[in-house]
Amino acid sequence: MCPACDGSLSLSVSRAEDAEIIEGELRCSACASSFPITRGIPRFAELTAVERDKQATAENFGWQWRHFTEKDERYAEQLLGWIAPVTPEFFRDKVVLEAGCGKGRHTQLAAQWGAREVIGIDLSEAVETAYSATRSLSNAHVIQADIFRLPLARKFDYAFSVGVLHHLPDPRKGFFSLASKVKPGGHVSAWIYGAENNEWIVRLVNPVREKITSRIDQRALLHLSKIPAAGIFLATKLIYGPLNRRGSTLGQYLFYNDYLSAISPFGWREQHLIVFDHLVAPTAFYIPREEFETWWRELGATDVTISWHNKNSWRGFGTIH
Ligand SMILES: C[S@@+](CC[C@H](N)C(=O)[O-])C[C@H]1O[C@@H](n2cnc3c(N)ncnc32)[C@H](O)[C@@H]1O
Ligand SMILES: [Zn+2]
Repeated sequence: MCPACDGSLSLSVSRAEDAEIIEGELRCSACASSFPITRGIPRFAELTAVERDKQATAENFGWQWRHFTEKDERYAEQLLGWIAPVTPEFFRDKVVLEAGCGKGRHTQLAAQWGAREVIGIDLSEAVETAYSATRSLSNAHVIQADIFRLPLARKFDYAFSVGVLHHLPDPRKGFFSLASKVKPGGHVSAWIYGAENNEWIVRLVNPVREKITSRIDQRALLHLSKIPAAGIFLATKLIYGPLNRRGSTLGQYLFYNDYLSAISPFGWREQHLIVFDHLVAPTAFYIPREEFETWWRELGATDVTISWHNKNSWRGFGTIH
C-alpha cells in the first residue's frame, strides 16, 4: 500500500520476464503518488530525499553489500543464532518480512526454508545484490523502502530484523514499525547490539568509527580495515579457535571469548566483512537489556523470550496481538 497515505496501489507493467515484473509503476489511487519498478525492484525510497543521517547509513551499507556479495556456507547457522528459538521449520508456509535485508542472504534462506512468500526490504542499493541473490526463487521478493515508511499492509505471519535496528536514528520506532506489519497471533524476531560487555567498544571504537571510519571513502576503509581484521583473524585462528576446541576449557579466560570464538570458523573474507561492517556504520546504538525489554512490553507482545547472544548482543522473539 501507499507509504504516504495507506491507499491501495495499482500496477502497470512495461516489461516482464515470465511472472517477474522487471519494469513498471505502482500508482496510488488515493493520493496519486507513483513509485517506479526498475530492474525488478519496486522503489519506494528516493535516497536523495531521505533525511541526512539515514542517507549516510544507506550509502555506506549500500557500498558494503555491493562489494561483499558472496555467500558463506555458515550463514544459515549464523542466522539461526540471531533468531533463536526460531528454526527452519518455523518458516514453512508463512508470509515473512525481513527488514533491512542487506545483500539478501536471509531473505534467500527464508525462501529456501519454505516460506510461502518472503519480502526483503532495504533502504540502500544493497537491494540490487539482494535481488540477484533471490532472482531464481519465486517466493522471494525485494523492495527498496525505508523501515519507517513501509509500503506494506498488516498481513505478515512473521517479521524479523537482524543487525538493523541499532543503526537507525530511532531504533525503538523502527522496531514498532516492523511489528506493525504482523497480523495478530503472528511473531517478531529482532537482534540488536547490546550495551552489556561492549563498554570497550563504546569507549574505544565508537569515537574512531564516528569521527573517521564512517566518514572516509569506502574503498579506503576497505583497505584500512584489513589491519584490525588481520589482528582478529590471527587471534581467532591461532588462539580463540584452538582454545575453544572440544575438551578445552581455556577459552573462558580469554577477552570477549564468546563472540570471538563464534566467528573463529569464518574465513578471511567473512571476518574482513564483519570488521568493515562495524566500522562503516555512521550510527550505532548499543542497547541495554532493560531498554529492549521495554520495547516488547510497550508493544504488548506475549511469550517473549529475550536472550544474550555471544555475550554481546540481544535477541528477542515474541507474539504480536
Ligand atoms: C548491518 S546491515 C544488515 C543486513 C542484513 N540484515 C544481514 O544481516 O545481512 C544493516 C542494513 O540495514 C539497512 N538499513 C539502514 N537503515 C535503513 C532504513 N531506514 N530502512 C531500511 N533499511 C535500512 C542498511 O541499508 C543495511 O543493508
Ligand atoms: Zn497515497
